[in-house]
Amino acid sequence: MIVTTTVQEVRAARRDDPWLTWGLIPTMGTLHEGHLSLVRRARAENDRVGVSIFVNPIQFNRRDDLDAYPRQLERDCELLRTEGVDLVWAPPEDEVYPPGYQTYVDLEQITLPLEGASRPGHFRGVATVVAKLFNVFEPTRAYFGQKDAQQAAVLRQMVRDLAFNLEMVICPIVREPDGLAMSSRNLRLKSDERQAALVLHRALKAAESEWQQGRREAGHLRTTMQQVIEAEPLARLDYVSAADPISLQELAGNAEHVLLSMAVFIGAVRLIDNFVLGGQTE
Ligand code: PAF
Repeated sequence: MIVTTTVQEVRAARRDDPWLTWGLIPTMGTLHEGHLSLVRRARAENDRVGVSIFVNPIQFNRRDDLDAYPRQLERDCELLRTEGVDLVWAPPEDEVYPPGYQTYVDLEQITLPLEGASRPGHFRGVATVVAKLFNVFEPTRAYFGQKDAQQAAVLRQMVRDLAFNLEMVICPIVREPDGLAMSSRNLRLKSDERQAALVLHRALKAAESEWQQGRREAGHLRTTMQQVIEAEPLARLDYVSAADPISLQELAGNAEHVLLSMAVFIGAVRLIDNFVLGGQTE
């Protein structure tokens, strides 16, 4: 496994084998089973697998969140070696954003609601760094998790709009046995908070149960999730949403195909989770 910090070495590895397929998994490190599920899928579908590990400063709108983001490069590389990854790019900040850097990727409507409303500038940072990763790796396929549902929708839109020559593969959320969606942020939960964090999954299950019983009015689904969250003393609701899975616009009336999503603070840690009901429409 090649581990490198430079654009030049990634390009050299990619250009050594121009006829082979490459799968890319962009990450911010502190890898868990969710990331590894993407690596395994990429390993099965491509000749070569590349992983980037870069805590992208421009997608954080709070300095404390960036500083607290966990970093475990050595452990990550060991895990990736075991999974048969070919190349890891773990660049320093000035390799991605050299002095004088001034190019950013901005998407419009799709970045405005949900995470975009709570974290101004977040998707500009995500789209910019992912566009750069696509240019550096030139992957055949790029793998992302459904846990960041809006990120997946935004990046799909970017790939369409800018005609990136690659296939986007969105993989299912990986959960702990008790239902908590895997996230690098879970490491920051104290033990009582870890228990309280189950409220996100509980709220989604409650709304899903209503939907399955035919109570599909979008407002009712939002209220159901909200009530479950508000009953948990350690939780502070940021948003709940019942939106169209593609446009991410809030639904009114009956929600046959719906992305149920939420962001909730458990203590100082902000967690997100989602379910898609009625089948993915794309
Ligand atoms: O999902 C993430 O970990 C990040 O947003 C990504 C896609 C690696 C961009 O920094």
